[in-house]
Amino acid sequence: MRGLQGKNVLITGASSGIGQAIAVRFAQEGAHVAVNYYKGEAEAKATIEQMHAASKAAGIAPGSLKDMTVQANVAKEEDVAIMFDKVISNFGGLDILINNAGMQIQGASHEIPLDQFDRMIDINMRGAFLCARKAIAHFLDHGGGVIVNDSSVHELIPRPEYVGYTMSKSGLRGMTRTLALEYARDNIRINSFAPGATLTPINPWKDDPQRKADIESHIPMGRAGTSEEMAAVAAFLASDDAAYITGQTIFIDGGLTLFPSFRTPWTG
Ligand code: BGC
Repeated sequence: MRGLQGKNVLITGASSGIGQAIAVRFAQEGAHVAVNYYKGEAEAKATIEQMHAASKAAGIAPGSLKDMTVQANVAKEEDVAIMFDKVISNFGGLDILINNAGMQIQGASHEIPLDQFDRMIDINMRGAFLCARKAIAHFLDHGGGVIVNDSSVHELIPRPEYVGYTMSKSGLRGMTRTLALEYARDNIRINSFAPGATLTPINPWKDDPQRKADIESHIPMGRAGTSEEMAAVAAFLASDDAAYITGQTIFIDGGLTLFPSFRTPWTG
């Protein structure tokens, strides 16, 4: 993809799942990648190993790409500030932020513990905003930049028993569109990609053949998506191939959001 080579990228929550696949994809594209993690230090290091293997396989000279792991709780303003300082001083700048860190919990809306609800909003929505504003402040001083947010089909469609999750992702939709408009004249683009049912650790059903088959039977394309399929769109949105796209969400869901049935995969 055009314009990713030599760019400095920070990916939050890149120690597993979609974030990890995005890190690997950017390394293949010749970008310098900072892998943020909260608790999974060993997993973040494993991401770096995978990045090395991927860039080597892509014909990039070993050692020519910079990379780093960086610990931070994205919900904490102080952690975020320290993380940005470390990445910017180590890489000499930042061009692309991927807001990927997130969590999800399930429970009846009238019963769900408020501390869990608060934590999810803090990480999925407030965390994305804390990182976005830090990135934007830097971009404004350096001629521009790109933000890509990992949203969900549930930024648009409801999901019973996941009220905090749907609220956080709807909030992300509002943030993406608002920031895109606010900074459209500053060479800063902000977009989201919205995964449907994806084979990642956030979805334990991926390892339960019966539940997986049931969920997949409700997806128009008949299968769940992969982290690599999400990473490809994240890379596209960050690249110069998407130079005229801002404030948009690309749904990567095998047709899930087209499905007219009330019996949805998440109730199946
Ligand atoms: C959720 C998954 C779910 C998918 C489709 C995603 O945002 O993280 O748990 O399978 O949406 O409902």
